Amino acid sequence: MDKLLITGGIPLEGEIRISGAKNAALPILAATLLADGPVKVGNIPHLQDITTTMELLGRMGVELVVDERMNIEVDCSTIRELFAPYELVKSMRASILVLGPMLARFGEAVVSLPGGCAIGSRPVNLHIEGLVKMGADVHVEGGYIHAKARRLKATRLVMDLVTVTGTENLMMAATLAEGTTVIENAAREPEVVDLANCLNAMGAKINGAGSNTIAVEGVDGLSGTHYDVLPDRIESGTYLAAAAITGGHVRIKDTQPRMLEAVIEKLREAGARVEVGDRWIDLDMKGCRPRAINIRTSPYPAFPTDMQAQFTTLNVVAEGAATISETVFENRFMHVHELRRMGADIQLEGNTAVTRGVERLTAAPVMATDLRASASLVLAGLVAEGDTVVERIYHIDRGYESIEEKLAKLGARIRRVPA
Ligand code: EPZ
Repeated sequence: MDKLLITGGIPLEGEIRISGAKNAALPILAATLLADGPVKVGNIPHLQDITTTMELLGRMGVELVVDERMNIEVDCSTIRELFAPYELVKSMRASILVLGPMLARFGEAVVSLPGGCAIGSRPVNLHIEGLVKMGADVHVEGGYIHAKARRLKATRLVMDLVTVTGTENLMMAATLAEGTTVIENAAREPEVVDLANCLNAMGAKINGAGSNTIAVEGVDGLSGTHYDVLPDRIESGTYLAAAAITGGHVRIKDTQPRMLEAVIEKLREAGARVEVGDRWIDLDMKGCRPRAINIRTSPYPAFPTDMQAQFTTLNVVAEGAATISETVFENRFMHVHELRRMGADIQLEGNTAVTRGVERLTAAPVMATDLRASASLVLAGLVAEGDTVVERIYHIDRGYESIEEKLAKLGARIRRVPA
């Protein structure tokens, strides 16, 4: 397994481009199953999770054409298998996103239950309950979800919890249902809005995406379209955090500042000077040490759980003490144990971490456990004294396109060491 070798102590300087959003590309690729004609999706990031999704669609008999700029044209008219196997779903939980579209378009679906995950049990009960309320016959057997429905029926769904992919799965299923479905307590993430925009470009009739009440008027069919995925707000936040942690000055381009308001607010609270344009964000922390800031994760538009690990790293080298509360997932502090090995002072009390900033972290061999935890360890390596080795970086390759190239462009001393 590849490793990343990082020599710390260099403030990041310069400008990088942000890639398309993984968490918008995944549901949009699943949504292509709903279309009667080819769907061309652009601005897709070159990531392992995208490759896994293409493999899943390909296994189902869907035609995929990829060009050198990672535009993917999907034509599901040749589909032959309405089946998502465990071997693929276990490597990418977001495969569950084919359930809703497959059921709505083809009337049946057999999808492996996603297994456990490092950051929490992450059940999909709300996805299944929603489909049952829409008239699907669903049973779970042998680790697989077996679903059938001649035609889904619209209904009013009140989500027990805010679930991003749950909202996305049910919104996709509702596009071809009979009548108008209303999803209450819907997720408001920008990726949900991007999916809704793409579905509407295919002929769906969705209103309210981005609010907590989404209305979907069912139609008889959806057509092909060309849609470019929005920029990745978590990649954006990760590089801004890296600039703040290393006391540097970085501009990120091709992003959307309004998606990052909660994150920018916290970076300013930490002492960073942040300026924004319509598609760029400039963070200057030159020569300053960040101030520790209290963080509490919540569904969008509040502070994102996917930025929690990166801000834990900021806090452990910041001035002062702070608390970080993780309210979305039950086990999303694995990075804490690795950061402690680098000299961080963190106490864990239930779903809250209490950090006391230290002047300097020291390099150590550390191990990535999940996507965003691995990003936090890379950020720690950028500021630690000495050479940090981050192992199991296949986690990173799932969600950060060309991370060592982008960081090296900003002056970091980082290289991939093949296993
Ligand atoms: C999406 O995961 C993202 N993944 C995650 O990003 C992100 O961390 C998460 O939303 C929260 O923002 C994609 O979009 C592909 P949830 P998702 O359903 O949809 C519980 C990353 O780093 N829940 O919003 O799986 C669940 O256990 C990844 O890019 C149920 O109990 O998350 C969790 O505690 C990590 N039953 C909470 O809701 C359900 O049926 C929120 O989960 C569904 C969810």
